[in-house]
Amino acid sequence: MSDFPVKLNTIATDTNFFLKKIFKKNKNLHLLEPMKYGLFSGGKRFRSCVIVNTGKIFNINYNNLIAIGAAVECIHSYSLIHDDLPAMDDDDLRRGKLATHKKFNEYTAILTGNSLLTLAFEIMSGNNLKLPAKIKNELIKILCIYSGYIGLAGGQYLDLTLENKKISKNKIIEIQKNKTGKLFAFCCETSAIIKNYSLKKRKNLKEIGLDIGLLFQVADDLIDFAGNSKIVGKPTQTDKSKGKQTLVNLIGYHETIKFAENLEKKIINKIKKYGIKGNDLLQSVKFILNREF
Ligand code: IPE
Ligand code: IPE
Ligand code: MG
Ligand code: MG
Ligand code: MG
Repeated sequence: MSDFPVKLNTIATDTNFFLKKIFKKNKNLHLLEPMKYGLFSGGKRFRSCVIVNTGKIFNINYNNLIAIGAAVECIHSYSLIHDDLPAMDDDDLRRGKLATHKKFNEYTAILTGNSLLTLAFEIMSGNNLKLPAKIKNELIKILCIYSGYIGLAGGQYLDLTLENKKISKNKIIEIQKNKTGKLFAFCCETSAIIKNYSLKKRKNLKEIGLDIGLLFQVADDLIDFAGNSKIVGKPTQTDKSKGKQTLVNLIGYHETIKFAENLEKKIINKIKKYGIKGNDLLQSVKFILNREF
């Protein structure tokens, strides 16, 4: 059996340990409680895992990778807290617990999300990330771009704006590469930025990350179609009634599985070019379609 779950768990524990230290320093601030609720509610920390396993290919310092992973997980948790709000997907369950706006209220969930987004950049610019200022600046710039209007936020905007509209397969792929893929693109490109590689060399890793993110979102859409809410900890069978632009809704469940398997092969072939040092990243990619649901 693959030892991937154990490795993922170690990275999750190290990421959580890093984040918990930050919260220990700051006590008695009221917004900290919902921030901790939204952040430490049992996320897989899969983005942190992709950062660490891409970093292994390039021998990047583990502590730096965990700090960057912690920052990305803050952005991811913010995006989920906002994604569940009534104005967005209007879901009440997240990671097996009440969504943040249900546990607290809507303004708390909005401000909690905002605060997790800014916390990410506090981490990226802080002393825990031990890198030259020029590299840090580039990492922060790319993370801003990929999280914002031409990244995660822009993708989420289109995901909601185009509900119940008729759009092409390519448009769906473009939306998903933005709302989910861009954060994964950052996870893979990070190592190339730290290595100060040329834009051309960075692009290969960005593309791998975009495809990993697309695969992850397609798998999430398959899980919505066929998954058990108790196992995945969030509502399932809801994308269709919301009129979500997913491949499952456009081409059906079985064709989407074929699409995902082909995409997985394409990603694996690209990663294999990095040799055995890419094995842990390969395992991460294989995990995406093999999750229990
Ligand atoms: C869910 O992400 C939202 C998507 C982008 C598909 P995850 O499945 O990584 O959520 P957690 O962090 O493990 O809860
Ligand atoms: C969320 O996609 C993508 C984000 C960037 C937050 P979904 O709306 O499909 O995620 P779930 O299914 O609610 O986790
Ligand atoms: Mg959504
Ligand atoms: Mg949602
Ligand atoms: Mg979903």
